[in-house]
Amino acid sequence: MDPFQYLGNEHRELTRVLGVLDHMTRNVADGGSIDRDELDAIVDYFREVGDMAHHDKEETLLVPALVRHHVDWFDGPLAELRHDHRQERYLTRSLRHTARKNTEWSDEDKRHFVSIGRAYSDFLRAHMAREHEVWFTIAAEALPEHVQEELVASFEKFDRELVELAGYVATRERALQLAAKYRT
Ligand SMILES: [Fe+2]
Ligand SMILES: [Fe+2]
Repeated sequence: MDPFQYLGNEHRELTRVLGVLDHMTRNVADGGSIDRDELDAIVDYFREVGDMAHHDKEETLLVPALVRHHVDWFDGPLAELRHDHRQERYLTRSLRHTARKNTEWSDEDKRHFVSIGRAYSDFLRAHMAREHEVWFTIAAEALPEHVQEELVASFEKFDRELVELAGYVATRERALQLAAKYRT
């Protein structure tokens, strides 16, 4: 497996959990109900698995390898990738803020959720598509094979450390159960 297949597998999992969010936004937009505990569960997933595990792997392992192989940090594709991740974190915080509201949602809260949920899903899907079409293609050309192998080993080490965190494993399992429940 090369590092881009490794990250691609994570994209597939993220896409399944985005399907749960899409299901929720469609339901609320059509006047249906939402299970707020389930929403909390997928928001935790996007924060801990999407931002903390996946994007951190890209930023702390893949990006430095590319900079060492003369890909510009300040301008062009890498700057755009980092910009996307900042925007992604902002959207995760907004979604989390909406989800964590203690009271029953008003109609305005529901409209806000539908709008931020759609924006989140659209943005993350477009971001992953850009990674495959642009950034991973550039990276595959820039990084020699032995560096790509070292990257996979460092991804695996990163993940071994994560699964020792009990909360992380539970968050991921819960989101995947919801993906199975909603057949996404
Ligand atoms: Fe990313
Ligand atoms: Fe990614």
